Amino acid sequence: ATIQWFPGHMAKAIRQLEENLHVVDIVFELVDARIPQSSRNPEIERIIKNKPHLVIMTKSDLADPEQTKNWIKKFKAQGLPAIAVDSKANITTKTVTRISQSILADKLDNEQQKGLKERPIRAITVGIPNVGKSTLLNRLVNKRAAQVGDRPGVTKGQQWLRSSSKLQLLDTPGILWPKFDDEETGQALALTGAIKDQRFASDDVALYALKFFRQYYPKALQERYKLTEDDFDLSDVDLLLKLTKQFGMKDDYERASDRLILDIRKSKLGRYSLNRTDGEADA
Ligand code: G4P
Repeated sequence: ATIQWFPGHMAKAIRQLEENLHVVDIVFELVDARIPQSSRNPEIERIIKNKPHLVIMTKSDLADPEQTKNWIKKFKAQGLPAIAVDSKANITTKTVTRISQSILADKLDNEQQKGLKERPIRAITVGIPNVGKSTLLNRLVNKRAAQVGDRPGVTKGQQWLRSSSKLQLLDTPGILWPKFDDEETGQALALTGAIKDQRFASDDVALYALKFFRQYYPKALQERYKLTEDDFDLSDVDLLLKLTKQFGMKDDYERASDRLILDIRKSKLGRYSLNRTDGEADA
């Protein structure tokens, strides 16, 4: 889905999320494992303030496993618990429930000591469009026994969905906008398909992709497009023109760019992570 964000939309999204924050114990912040930095909303920390917070790296089946491991460490070093999931296959309610319980252990113990009845943990998923909020929600929620009904404090029309006996999720995710502060962030979002509008010219995105894959995944590039050693001496532009010919597209490098981008989005060049932890100062 393409959403054009205007200041009014942003203010409304924040307002809605802030209302929902009052009724949850924990925020599940979804980021795309291929771009854990670029797919984060810049305002998230400010908006959720001190709410307990779990980073869930979605689409980890598409990301470079080595980088994903490093990112989890990096988030943890920032005091942010983080897990990586493949919502299409391996994410389990048990895991998410257990981690949420451990994050909230002090709060829950406290309530017990005060003699309060044991209750389910309440969570909301938050993230930019296409990051995988609905997919994760569907995966975590047992649809047959899903709705547990309205609760005071929840905005009208919203429901708690039962994930496990110990975990409930708000049915409406918090939608936040991606940031485009710098060109590379925008190109990384475009290359993964996080944004599909025409904001970024496909040849710019393709050139970014070629430069990136030559540096980090040269073998994948070489194998997919049968490149020779000489091809690696070409400039990015000349390499794109070579691929254009190779694709039988004469000099239509824009069409060739679209093809290259689609190949990468569809993991035809294998798993990849565009945001790297290596050699980066603590972000
Ligand atoms: P949203 O609610 O945050 O907007 O995202 P949504 O769940 O709709 O997911 C967006 C796309 O990402 C979907 O693909 C979905 O299948 C895919 N997706 C979500 N989680 C994962 C994951 O863990 N692994 C993989 N491989 N894919 C995941 P789609 O409907 O085919 O749309 P698209 O591919 O055309 O964008």
